[in-house]
Amino acid sequence: MSEIIHVHDKSFVPYLSSGEIIEKVKVLADHINHEYKGRKPLFISILNGSFMFSSDLFKLINIDAEICFIKLASYKGTRSSGQVITAIGLDTDLTDRDIIIVEDIIDTGKTLSQFLPQVYNQRPSSLKIAVLLHKPDATIFPVKIDYTCFTIPNKFVVGYGLDYNGLGRNLAQLYQLKED
Ligand code: IMP
Ligand code: MG
Repeated sequence: MSEIIHVHDKSFVPYLSSGEIIEKVKVLADHINHEYKGRKPLFISILNGSFMFSSDLFKLINIDAEICFIKLASYKGTRSSGQVITAIGLDTDLTDRDIIIVEDIIDTGKTLSQFLPQVYNQRPSSLKIAVLLHKPDATIFPVKIDYTCFTIPNKFVVGYGLDYNGLGRNLAQLYQLKED
């Protein structure tokens, strides 16, 4: 667990092991299985970053549930570009559905705060937000989060689906940017 890895020009140190991550994902899945019993929720997974989290979470859902995917992006390198682009939009009717948005990380909150009006416009019967990671110290656009697996400091992380300029998504655990 002590090895330093290199992604592009930066060094990262191990931060959260895959065991620690899956333990929290299980707790979240148990909670959803219990709370949504008999309701058939629709998960909306926000690509690219949340593909691994969504996959692990969805495999642990044991009630009837659906999943769809949208693709939003706002990041360039290790900084939010401030512009949110919708690369793949919503293709599923959300009216009267119980929606659970699944996001890898909430940083400034811009991505989700721009996307949420599209969801509310379709009048879902309920809406909850589940995130793997939350960086409260980075908040610019506050978003009400219903489930957080880990609250983390305002430091850049890679792995478990999250990238640094396209690389690092395949790492099974999370790594944190190494201080110089
Ligand atoms: P926000 O719009 O500033 O909340 O940023 C959200 C998006 O930026 C996330 O969905 C991630 O894809 C990306 N992001 C934010 N922080 C990190 C990080 O530490 N590592 C990798 N990607 C990040
Ligand atoms: Mg993301």
